[in-house]
Parts: sequence; C-alpha cells; structure tokens
Amino acid sequence: MAGACQRLRSLITLLTFTTLLLGPVRGQLSTSFYSNSCPSVFSTVRSAVSNALQSDPRAGAKLLRMFFHDCFVQGCDASVLLDDTATFRGEKTAAPNANSLRGFNVINSVKASLEIACPRTVSCADIVAIAARDGVVLAGGPTWEVEVGRRDSTTASLSEANNLPGPSWTAAQQIRAFQAKGLNTNDLVALSGAHTFGKASCNLFQSRLSSSDPSMDATFRSTLQSSCGTASAMVDLDQGTPVTFDTQYYTNLQMNRGLLTSDQTLATSSQTSRLVNTFTSQSAFFNQFTKSMLKLGRLGVLTGNQGQIRNICGAVNREV
Ligand code: HEM
Repeated sequence: MAGACQRLRSLITLLTFTTLLLGPVRGQLSTSFYSNSCPSVFSTVRSAVSNALQSDPRAGAKLLRMFFHDCFVQGCDASVLLDDTATFRGEKTAAPNANSLRGFNVINSVKASLEIACPRTVSCADIVAIAARDGVVLAGGPTWEVEVGRRDSTTASLSEANNLPGPSWTAAQQIRAFQAKGLNTNDLVALSGAHTFGKASCNLFQSRLSSSDPSMDATFRSTLQSSCGTASAMVDLDQGTPVTFDTQYYTNLQMNRGLLTSDQTLATSSQTSRLVNTFTSQSAFFNQFTKSMLKLGRLGVLTGNQGQIRNICGAVNREV
C-alpha cells in the first residue's frame, strides 16, 4: 500500500514538472499560453481597446460583435478578418457583415504592435477574443480570464457568414442556430445581452415602425420613428444605457422596448421568456454571460499545428 502511494506521488511529481517545462498541453486553449512567448499580449490589447474608446464610445461593442461573427463562422479562427483578393472571397461582404461589422482597425493595430514585441507568435483569432473581453470590461461588464492558443485559418466561408442569425429571426430559429453550434438556450439569451450596447441600422427594423406590432411599446415606436429619419440612420440597441454593459437590455425587453424582432421575441417566446426575467439580475446575467463567452470562444478552434499565425490579420501568409 505504502509502495503504491509512493509510486502515485512520483507520477504526480513527474507530471507537474513536465507541464511546467513544456507549458500547457499542445492542442488545448489555456489562459497561460503566451506567459513565456508573449507576456505583453494582454496589456497591449487592453491599452488599444481603451485608446479606441477615447474617440469612439462604441468601440467595445464593435469588437464584441466581431468575436461573435468570427466564432459562429467556421470557428474562432479570424476568418472574418480576411480581405477579398482577386482569387479569394472572404466573409467581409456577407450580408450581416458588409458596411456593418467594424473594429478591424483596432485588431490590425494590435497585431502590428505585437509583431514588433513578439514576432510570429500571437494569432489574430486570440487578439479578437481578448479585445472582445476588454470591450465588455471597459463598458462596466463582467471580467473573465480569456483562454488563448488559437491559430488562424487559411480559409473563410462567405456562405456560412451569410447564414449568421438575422434581425427578423424568431426565438425558435435562433435556438436552432445556437444548438447547431453546441450552444444552448441559456447561452443564446445570455449572449444576446450583448445588445446592451452598440448600435443598429434603422433599415433592419423598419417594418416594426410602420406596423402596429403589439410587441413594441407605442412611445418607444414614436421615438424610433423620429430617430430613423434617413435610410442610413443608426440608433442605440439599448436606449436606456447605450454605452454601458448592464442588465438594461433585459429590462427593455420586459417593457417591449427591444429594438430588433430577434431581441423582442426572446421575451415573448415561452422557450426563452423565463431567462429574460432571470437575467434582469446582474449576478445571474454576468455569471452566465462569462460562461457562455468561454463556450463561444472554444467553437471550432485551430490549435497545435493547425492553421497558421498570420503575419497580418487581413491576409493569409504567402507560401515560402
Ligand atoms: C442571436 C442572434 C443575433 C442577432 C439576430 C443579431 C443581430 C444584430 C444586428 C442586426 C445588429 C445591428 C448591426 C448593424 O446595424 O450594423 C447587431 C449588433 C450588435 N450585435 Fe448582435 N445579433 C445576435 C447576437 C449577438 C451576439 C451573440 C453578440 C455577442 C456576443 C452580439 C453582439 C452585438 C453587438 C455588440 C452589436 C452592436 C455593434 C455595433 O455597435 O457596431 N450579437 N446584432
């Protein structure tokens, strides 16, 4: 018995030393992935997001949405950042992204700084994941330790990007899309809480303004009618606290002040309305949101020797 205990202790010691020596297991995400290779990665992203917020209060919202659009389309692999070329079609022109997805400049400038500090080390996919977290934190939202170690894709999928959830979708359609990615109804309702900040174009919910949709508060409708004067106008997704990451999104839904059909349907559907009520509690929302962001961040990741670490985020590395 004593001998068996001794052998077990030696095995544990050996495993501990191996992990310390080799770092995190290859092929897995870990919060310490860059501890030795690029210790400045987290502070570099934080200051870039913080700087961007000085001139653009919407910067954090843009980056959070970018993370969602990256992860939902062939996994969190920075495919969303690839530019079109004569021979390559990326995701930027997909309907949900074109003239709508923003924040690329922040990611590109972080990448440029990191290529000086620690060349060919940090993936664009990880920069997007860290920037999304920082956008939430700097708007007053919850924090969490971002898992890193993703690698960048050499491909993109315009067709998958065109299938991202749309503003007119019902709760059932959204639930199905999330289920297809291994995300459940808790994840859907908590992650939709991201619409507590940022803006949306009026043309995406125009039909709600002319009809007498009973799921829209009448005063809210007339406010929107006057804000949406021109086709290109944009309004705050959360008219109560537009730049703060809080539970106001859920309170809005309870008051029929959800902006998009896809938002308001979460309060009317029997499959999701209970969760809308639950997430008006800050601790319940923040707790589920951080868990769901970690799940979102693990979707379809490339690790180990898969993919590549791009030199610039907008283009696949040329063969050498
Ligand atoms: C589940 C269904 C979802 C639908 C149908 C949806 C749809 C939309 C639409 C139509 C816009 C406005 C875009 C524009 O007018 O340019 C928007 C904005 C936004 N979405 Fe979503 N979204 C969903 C989920 C999510 C998730 C899961 C996140 C993040 C975790 C997210 C984060 C955001 C943010 C932060 C904005 C504001 C961006 C900005 O100000 O530029 N959305 N979304």
